[in-house]
Amino acid sequence: MTVFKRAAADGHCRAGAGPRNLLLGLAALLLSGCAPDHVVRSASEVHAGSAASSGSAAPAANAARAGKAAVTEPATDPGNSLRQAFAPYFLLGTALSAQQIAGQERGTLPLVQQHFNSLTAENVMKWQLLQPVEGQFDFSAADALLALAEQQDSVLIGHTLLWHEQTPAWVFQGPDGGPASRELLLARLTSHIQTVMGRYRGKIKGWDVVNEALNEDGSLRDTPWRRILGDDFYLTAFALAQQADPAAELYYNDFNLFKPAKRQGAVRLVRQLQAAGIKVAGIGMQGHYGLDFPALQEVEDSIRAFAATGAQVMITELDITVLPNPEQAQIGADVSQKLALQARLNPYTTGLPANVSQALTERYHALFRLFLQYEASISRVTLWGVHDGQSWRNGFPMQGRTDYALLFDRDLTPKPAVTALLQLAAESGGERRE
Ligand code: G3I
Repeated sequence: MTVFKRAAADGHCRAGAGPRNLLLGLAALLLSGCAPDHVVRSASEVHAGSAASSGSAAPAANAARAGKAAVTEPATDPGNSLRQAFAPYFLLGTALSAQQIAGQERGTLPLVQQHFNSLTAENVMKWQLLQPVEGQFDFSAADALLALAEQQDSVLIGHTLLWHEQTPAWVFQGPDGGPASRELLLARLTSHIQTVMGRYRGKIKGWDVVNEALNEDGSLRDTPWRRILGDDFYLTAFALAQQADPAAELYYNDFNLFKPAKRQGAVRLVRQLQAAGIKVAGIGMQGHYGLDFPALQEVEDSIRAFAATGAQVMITELDITVLPNPEQAQIGADVSQKLALQARLNPYTTGLPANVSQALTERYHALFRLFLQYEASISRVTLWGVHDGQSWRNGFPMQGRTDYALLFDRDLTPKPAVTALLQLAAESGGERRE
């Protein structure tokens, strides 16, 4: 099979992070409640070292610039490790549950070590888990994940610093039980980011600084963060993060970014951050996809649009539901949607029919083929979980369904999709020699 390498649209280098004192100044302004409008710099100043590579460069040069291993030997043997197979192109990640991190799932961790070289906490680094009570941090599970990543020679990705979900109610409440004041919420956000990022400074490759800030039409989502801090809340969060760990990569992460309006909203948001002197290292496209959505063309258009900002593209939460989508539910991952279980929408409780399994394999293959086409712009592809049994898909948008969204069965058996992806990577290595 031919994997055709194509130039990422307009993915030329734009700028590195600005002088440190500028950033400290920006953070100070934000902390003092000032808007950062007057520290705007031109886009060309803002992104030079982080850039995704130009697709016109040679593969080895692209790989070197993106910190990837260059392909020097033809890869003819598909091998039995996804992380090795895709190492020349991008990191291959997974998300681990609290039970998995604690080693409470038999067989999972060796499998993770075999196939994945990037780890993300599915839950344990969210605010609710890290700081359930004001000022009382619990780093036990996050520390265990860091130790695991080091042991497995994998990178660790921080997920997530600012989100409207899985944030305890106290964060947004004032002493009288009403909404917190702007000053109080800003102080809490500052403390959280400094404490968490400070603890893991130099140990975490990058952070999903802001998660899911956009509506489907690309406008800013109505959340307590926005209502209390104002429309520039995401600028504040990124400035604080950049100050807390200047060497960490900073990402914006959202679902349904294949949709044109939401894509444009994300580009606008990233451009505003860049104009304010923030180095946005990556844009995370959560890949909560299905067998028949989104169209590959829409995913491709978003990869190109995001690469053109100078940021790397990351497919951050990949899973492919095989279940019918309830008419009432929007596709995506808005976890506030909760519907009643309906048997007709849960058709595969006793196993996956061969034709659906085949469709799942083909869908994974087609997506990874696209990712390989744009490997110069893509730094990481992360599956949202190791095996079907742990997948949040079983509970969304209704509890109690049996989905088959990931690469490994509930008993950890690799699916045919694993073989297909190993083969795809091997064939792609062959192509890359030319
Ligand atoms: O921790 C409690 C546990 O104490 C309790 O016994 C149990 C009973 O239900 O619930 C546990 O909390 C659950 C938590 O996962 C840990 O398992 C929550 O109810 C449940 O809502 C939570 O779901 C997570 C979801 O985010 C919450 O928004 C999923 O595991 C996680 O996969 C999902 O991940 C999100 C990304 O962070 C952002 N993008 C969308 C993605 C999918 O929703």
